[in-house]
Amino acid sequence: MATLKTSILGIEFENPFLLASAPPTASIESIDKAFEMGWGGAVLKTITPDDLEMIEASPRYATIKEKGKIICLQNIELLSHETVQYWVDGIKYLKSKHPTKVIIASIMAPVEREEWQNLVQILNDTPIDAYELNFSCPHGMPERNIGMAIGTSAEISILITSWVKSVATKPVFVKLTPNVTDITWIARAVERAGADGVAAINTVQSFMGINLDTLEPVLNVDGHSTYGGLSGAAVKPIGFKCVSQIRQISNLPILGMGGISDWQDAAQYITLGSDAVQICTEVMINGYGIINGLKSGLLNYLESKGFNDISGLKNIAVQKITSHKKLNKNNHLYPSIDKETCVSCGKCVKICSESEYSALNLDKEGLSLNREQCVGCSLCSHICPKEAITMCC
Ligand SMILES: Cc1cc2nc3c(=O)[nH]c(=O)nc-3n(C[C@H](O)[C@H](O)[C@H](O)COP(=O)(O)O)c2cc1C
Repeated sequence: MATLKTSILGIEFENPFLLASAPPTASIESIDKAFEMGWGGAVLKTITPDDLEMIEASPRYATIKEKGKIICLQNIELLSHETVQYWVDGIKYLKSKHPTKVIIASIMAPVEREEWQNLVQILNDTPIDAYELNFSCPHGMPERNIGMAIGTSAEISILITSWVKSVATKPVFVKLTPNVTDITWIARAVERAGADGVAAINTVQSFMGINLDTLEPVLNVDGHSTYGGLSGAAVKPIGFKCVSQIRQISNLPILGMGGISDWQDAAQYITLGSDAVQICTEVMINGYGIINGLKSGLLNYLESKGFNDISGLKNIAVQKITSHKKLNKNNHLYPSIDKETCVSCGKCVKICSESEYSALNLDKEGLSLNREQCVGCSLCSHICPKEAITMCC
């Protein structure tokens, strides 16, 4: 029998599914409910010193939908609105009621040693399992020189990580931003400064567009907008990239996230280097109940693969990512056309000729391939509306 139990830095997890720091972890009551429903742990909505002003705009969300399904969410939400004392009391309550659940305190403060260390010293006296330093919020905070303004500077990231590490009595994860040229620079920097682990990714800085009727921003706050953070399915490839890049240069535990919608996404994050995963947007769309499918799906998969736990999956795909130079260039694939499924719409022929190669031809005999002209790019297989084209040798 496989198990979902796992252990990171001596912290025992019932299962590797954590709620990410976000609206689903903004109150003790809601985290209590999520724990009852089976989540393995929660990263609290980012806690800040009480005097750091948090005034929200309305609205704070915009989405892009594909056939009615949200494929990405943009937000301009700030951090926790609750006081530090609210969280101190709440953490004690949650831990006494749910001793087996993992509670991670996400924190952020102005770039001053006392501010960070005061917050940590207060939270040291609570039964949290770890800290997560939010160096990565891409909106609202950078204009106050915090959030992503910290995580895009190796120097400031090192400074704050070492301040926190010098007083923290629990393991310290640093939550990294994807909004950098190379996330491994910052991961290396915080590892050198003593971080015990990293979390990645926070949201991707973005702009949702302009409504062409009103000529105002799509995320419209009384006629204006600001750059926001993108999350959900559309950012998953960016999360995969960042997590695997960090794993290639570091053995630190990684809490992977970004666009996880189902157990398959979570399993892929684990193969790419995650030790556990966090989820936000999918919970905001479908609620805490998704935990049932996440747990049963991953457990069944582990069993079908003969793994006892997620350690069998961990990191196994990282070595599959190499440089372009090292890719095998002698493995030329060609489109194979399923004549039964092909409706001779000609879309692949048009796209192939207009994207340079002209390797496909359509006449009264149907679709055919000129192998000499085909470069094996696979575009035809992707644009075929009937999925009648597959690539093979
Ligand atoms: C509305 C909203 C609020 C968020 N607030 C925080 C926050 O307070 N602290 C933090 O570290 N990350 C915050 N995040 C980022 C998420 O924790 C997570 O890193 C990101 O959304 C990617 O995961 P996802 O695609 O599963 O949503 C927030 C995300 C959203 C959508």
